[in-house]
Amino acid sequence: MTFFAKIAATGAYLPEKVLTNFDLEQLVDTNDMWIRERTGIHTRHIAAPSESSSSLGIQAAIRTLDVAGVDGEEIDLVLVGTCTPDGMFPSVASRIQNAVGAVNAGAFDVNAACTGYLSALSTATQFIENGSAKKVLVVGAETLSRIVDWSDRTTCVLFGDGAGATLLEASSKKDFGSIRSYVLRSDGGQADALFAGGPGAPTEHPLTKEAHIMMDGRAVFRAAVEEMSKASLTAIHNAGLSIDDIDLLVPHQANERIIRALARNLNFSMDKVFMNVEKYGNTSSATIPIALHEANTEGLIKPGDYVLMTVIGGGLAWGAMVVQWSDYCAS
Ligand code: UT7
Repeated sequence: MTFFAKIAATGAYLPEKVLTNFDLEQLVDTNDMWIRERTGIHTRHIAAPSESSSSLGIQAAIRTLDVAGVDGEEIDLVLVGTCTPDGMFPSVASRIQNAVGAVNAGAFDVNAACTGYLSALSTATQFIENGSAKKVLVVGAETLSRIVDWSDRTTCVLFGDGAGATLLEASSKKDFGSIRSYVLRSDGGQADALFAGGPGAPTEHPLTKEAHIMMDGRAVFRAAVEEMSKASLTAIHNAGLSIDDIDLLVPHQANERIIRALARNLNFSMDKVFMNVEKYGNTSSATIPIALHEANTEGLIKPGDYVLMTVIGGGLAWGAMVVQWSDYCAS
């Protein structure tokens, strides 16, 4: 039997605390105008001391299952895109699995930096299409504020915390409203362009045990525009579509200038591009599921619409996906 993977529900959770550009002026030598003009970011949300990637992810997951009317025990698999797990192990996915009562589910994290959620969603699609899972909860959850160097103005203004979740369900009936194509790519030769150290770092290496984000912003900017454009066109082609068929672009939210350059490259109208980078900054793996949820709740996606998602981040690792919106997606 052939199975199709459909998005059945979306959800998101942002921590309460908001950090403005003006707040950042008090921390580092920066200013609101520079941040807005160079990145489009106005505010970002910051996790409370008691919160973590798993607690943010749990909230997003609970909201998603609530709107879908699905019990935790119906879930076969919990996948989490994160590069800021609570610890080296257990996985954030296991913590979320427990919190939502997914007693029949397997659980693991996918670390592809910002591309974690799209990688997890692609993996979930495989589990559904080959018939080994019926319902998969896919979460992107991050606390970038924990690995930002708050004295480095070139990075600390960019990132924020948050989580988004998506419930993927199997349907054997028809392919209407299913995930149509995905492409994942990586160039580890550019690992030094964007990285953070960690407990497993070799002792004689520029990586440190201190997990702080280090980025060559200009190099990543160039790669972002080029690779997300190429991956998007490949995903559209693999779906048997053309750019004119795409109803909404939900890109990684790292920088408004990157998003505008991507739309220009694709010859795609900004009217059909979803953007919320001004509110949340770059939440890595969480940007796309949060944006997808907001687009869904704002009524910007109708059943049958084709949605293109694309992302790039540390690795470098990037990807794109085309999904046709299902006729029963809850929000
Ligand atoms: O999610 C992973 C993917 N990440 C990305 O996609 C990020 C990609 N990169 C970017 O978004 C941009 O490169 C940045 C926003 C990081 C930087 O913007 P830029 O236009 O590339 O600026 P720049 O690095 O070329 O720096 C321009 C100037 C420099 O000063 P000088 O050398 O011209 O005197 C910087 O020192 O801006 C300075 N600068 C700042 N000034 C005020 C850098 N950061 C700041 C700051 N406030 N926060």
